[in-house]
Amino acid sequence: MTTRPRQPGPNAPAPGKLPLTELVEMKRRGERIAMVTAYDAPGGRLADQAGADLVLVGDSAAMTVLGHDSTVPATMEEMLMLTRAVTRGASRPLVIADMPFGSFQVSVEDAVENAIRFVKEAGADAVKLEGAGPMLSRVRAIVGAGIPVMGHIGLTPQSATMLGGFKAQGRSAEKALRLYDDARALEAAGCFSLVLEAVPAPVAGRITRDLSIPTIGIGAGPDCDGQVLVYHDLLGLTEGHLPRFVKRYANLSREIRDALEAYAADVRSGSFPGEEHTYSMSEAELEAFTR
Ligand code: KIV
Repeated sequence: MTTRPRQPGPNAPAPGKLPLTELVEMKRRGERIAMVTAYDAPGGRLADQAGADLVLVGDSAAMTVLGHDSTVPATMEEMLMLTRAVTRGASRPLVIADMPFGSFQVSVEDAVENAIRFVKEAGADAVKLEGAGPMLSRVRAIVGAGIPVMGHIGLTPQSATMLGGFKAQGRSAEKALRLYDDARALEAAGCFSLVLEAVPAPVAGRITRDLSIPTIGIGAGPDCDGQVLVYHDLLGLTEGHLPRFVKRYANLSREIRDALEAYAADVRSGSFPGEEHTYSMSEAELEAFTR
């Protein structure tokens, strides 16, 4: 007689979760993959309800929610807390935790240990890490430990200073070829998918055609297998300059500010709280209380 486990085992996908293997099938069928970042439970839940396939708990959190001016200061503890919140909100999409700067560069051991923390302590389905070259050994080791890895090349914000700032990458034949080689090496190392950030569209298109894993573009043109945008950018919560690749789908900053102004005005004028927002008590109890 054979026995079957009744519960998914450790590291097995929860019921209703998009299977990781479906991403390659989507690429094969030419179905585009929708990915968005999220940093808390409501964000994860809304992305899930909206039908996102992948939710990235990006280290962009350092800028969008923690108020830093780069992604570099994000820590493991902060990213774990945000990832836990997102996994509580998002059920169907695969939740990918972004490995913060310093959590995978120092050694292969650190990289595996921190990737395991994201899965065990925060419920992440996969991790993402920036770079190729020396980072290939980290990808191999994390995948070897049974954790899916998403790669990220092109403009890699954790090393923006080395890249000469926040600007498009791979715009010369030589640099484009280096990106192409990095993409192939990350696929060979075991990545299940690859983010291409701020890369000329024809270069991203060629990489996408030549890889069997799906590419997810951000500022990489229409030929990638999927697209990702930062939650706060697409919802109009980011104020100030936005990169040219961002499309705004709402202006939530304006809506939130208007609502907060209306609330403050109601408080000052005494029109909030109204009758409908208050609790009453019986005359008898009130009289007893007053006595
Ligand atoms: O941190 C992030 O949000 C990212 C995406 C922009 C890909 O890495």
